[in-house]
Amino acid sequence: KHIVILISGTGSNMAAIVRAAERERWGVRLGARVAAVISNRPGAKGLDFAREQGIATGVVDHKAFDSRETFDAALQAEIDRHQPALVVLAGFMRILTPGFVAHYAGRLVNIHPSLLPAFPGLHTHQRAIDEGCKLAGATVHQVTAELDHGHILAQAAVPVLPGDTADALAARVLTQEHIIYPRAVAGLLQTM
Ligand code: GRF
Repeated sequence: KHIVILISGTGSNMAAIVRAAERERWGVRLGARVAAVISNRPGAKGLDFAREQGIATGVVDHKAFDSRETFDAALQAEIDRHQPALVVLAGFMRILTPGFVAHYAGRLVNIHPSLLPAFPGLHTHQRAIDEGCKLAGATVHQVTAELDHGHILAQAAVPVLPGDTADALAARVLTQEHIIYPRAVAGLLQTM
């Protein structure tokens, strides 16, 4: 079972999944491996990590396309070269078209830095602080055509502390993301 991970930047969630796959021997235990890391940004730092790990990489630069549809079609073609059982969005900052989502229905997951259904969209940590939330966190969910919705697979909550900045809260949440995302991916692979 091939996993393809899509990133746009640092790729720390991708790295956490790659490390878990090695540490927990997903190849032997789940018959699964990370087959490729693909980014919409040529300069995404996570591509360097993937290359160092000997993982195939791909770039489909969204700036090279004149519509969301043509970009998604090119991205889908690049992904499908690896015949994925599961496509993992990890810090992937593009809104995907319904056609793309339908093509990967049931095998497309994302991690969002809030306790969905609270705070879909951007700037989730600042919004939680501004609302006076006492808890924040992250959600792993199936991707549907509706942004940041879809069946929830895993969540982790962290305290919002007095005086928290968005960066401080983001770092606290990210630590939990790196725990729940690999665990949720492994759990899903076991059902496939
Ligand atoms: C994280 O906050 C994640 O929740 C969101 O993108 C941010 C960066 O993720 N999806 P990564 O370090 O690129 O994996």
